[in-house]
Amino acid sequence: MPDNTPSFVILNSVDSTNNYAMGIVHSGLAVHGNAYFALEQTEGKGRRGKVWKSTKEQNIILSIIANTGFLTATHQFKLIAAVSLGCIDFLRKYVKENIKIKWPNDLFYNDTKAGGILIENVFKGKVWEWAVIGIGINVNQIEFPPDISLHSISLKQIEGKDFDIISLGKHLRDCVLKRIEDLKQANFEITSKQYNAVLYQLNKKVKLKKKNIVFETIVRGVSSQGQLLTKDFMERSFDFDQVEWVL
Ligand code: BTN
Repeated sequence: MPDNTPSFVILNSVDSTNNYAMGIVHSGLAVHGNAYFALEQTEGKGRRGKVWKSTKEQNIILSIIANTGFLTATHQFKLIAAVSLGCIDFLRKYVKENIKIKWPNDLFYNDTKAGGILIENVFKGKVWEWAVIGIGINVNQIEFPPDISLHSISLKQIEGKDFDIISLGKHLRDCVLKRIEDLKQANFEITSKQYNAVLYQLNKKVKLKKKNIVFETIVRGVSSQGQLLTKDFMERSFDFDQVEWVL
């Protein structure tokens, strides 16, 4: 009988686990569920071209390969929502309260960031074949670079104890894969409702920035296509990367 258990590869040091996993995809060796975990990442990538810094051997630095053949290219938010919920399922095992998704896929504890997700896609023509799901979660780190220290937090800072980063990484991979399986079986409306139920600042007044203009508006939810829906004197909707949060 073939062993279909996806592998969990631990890398000592790598530029970016997303780059590493992408290399595997491009060399034709991708297997759904295979995960790449780094103890050190020298050129970690964040969303919007930002750098993702993570102190060596302190945190989860993980990339998971997912086969996305069952999704259409226009439905990328479905995967974002499922992965975000997988991360929430994971975090809620260790932190009982106040874990939220800051649209589109930051992992927040109160008003601070505990982790982030960077999904990179591979298309063959119009077919969305693979996704590399990169997840960084602050686990045992207690000091952050000055530019992010005000808005960053780790599990250790929340719970007051150290965690085993490798077993947490494996558990996170399982939580994310479970949500992707659910996405195959279930109606997306359920996933979308669950995503909205854990949305950071839902029904609260927030500050957003669009083309250097900061404005206040009330978060009303996220559409099934992934747009942020807000209301002030009028109803608004924003695509990813059209607006930035001002915290
Ligand atoms: C963000 O919030 O900007 C997304 C951060 C994603 C970081 C993770 S760490 C593992 C994977 N490898 C990378 O280079 N980036 C992602």
